Amino acid sequence: MLPEKIEQVFTLNVEAIQLLQNALDTSFLDAYIENAENLIDNYQVRVIDGHPDAKTAQRLTEIYQQMKENQLAPEEWRKLSQLLLLKGSKEEHLQPNHQLTPDTIGYLFVYLIEQLFPNKKQPLTILDVASGMGNLLLTSLLNLQIATYQAAGIGVDIDDTLLSIAASTSELTEADVQFFHQDGLQDLLIEPVDVAMSDLPIGYYPNNQKAADFLTKAEEGHSYAHHLLMEQAMKYVKEAGFGLFLVPSNFLETDQSDYLKKWLVSEVYLQGAVQLPDELFKTKESSKSILILQKKGHTAKQVDEVLVAKIASIKNTDTIMEFFKQFENWKNKNF
Ligand SMILES: C[S@@+](CC[C@H](N)C(=O)[O-])C[C@H]1O[C@@H](n2cnc3c(N)ncnc32)[C@H](O)[C@@H]1O
Repeated sequence: MLPEKIEQVFTLNVEAIQLLQNALDTSFLDAYIENAENLIDNYQVRVIDGHPDAKTAQRLTEIYQQMKENQLAPEEWRKLSQLLLLKGSKEEHLQPNHQLTPDTIGYLFVYLIEQLFPNKKQPLTILDVASGMGNLLLTSLLNLQIATYQAAGIGVDIDDTLLSIAASTSELTEADVQFFHQDGLQDLLIEPVDVAMSDLPIGYYPNNQKAADFLTKAEEGHSYAHHLLMEQAMKYVKEAGFGLFLVPSNFLETDQSDYLKKWLVSEVYLQGAVQLPDELFKTKESSKSILILQKKGHTAKQVDEVLVAKIASIKNTDTIMEFFKQFENWKNKNF
């Protein structure tokens, strides 16, 4: 794809979102949703009770006309959306737990899914129990589609603005996703999936009564939301299916890790952990790893050698290739 094309469409979208933001007196993110819905509605400006005003609507119509001439492919739409949402997140000072998962991390999830599910003829369903603005889920679905998989997604989030953003971007990219606006810890009305994945919210879950249903609950006080959500997500995974979760790298050394270990031992197999490069995080303490869990059942068993890998740098192709080699050797020996 030509970089100028994406730049041009990006600039047009920024102008459209800012026009809507001013005319409707809303936040950048709400204007993003309004703009996306206009684009989905065949590039038409929605006017309700004279809002946006006629002059703004006229300029938006001109912008949309220009956009129509620059049709984007699904993955190009997603990349563009990511750029717009990063801009919006900065303007609105979104807290870390609400920020989207960057592509660099999303592409690693795609790599892991491709490795764990080498049969491209097998349709895959992927659940994200805290899908936020949907970037991680859509990066995975669209890139798996490019790799000729048939992949469908289920996204759940407790925040309705973030979920609406995910739903509108998903429509723009024509991705096959069902979204549910609910607390991810409440029962989900879904069929079992092949993969559960998430960039989990880190912190405490306020509802102790609900937390009491989970093995990872804390004996006293609030439980870690990321522990509960992992346990919940794995309940909806098919036997021998996988869970891929982004969690703090010190997940085995916290004051609640005993509860997590109890669940890890009894319900799933902890097959590996891939530590991401420190350069992706503000501090060493906030660094994260991708956990690779496998649901018990069928032919699944605890691997002889749990993968403990660290990617030194994402900017350096050699270190990524080294990780790919290490992963593939491990997989061939253990699966
Ligand atoms: C780091 S963000 C996920 C980002 C997402 N992967 C993306 O690319 O946009 C974590 C998400 O967890 C959601 N969340 C927090 N508590 C939740 C709960 N109990 N159930 C479902 N979602 C929850 C937040 O609203 C937030 O969207």
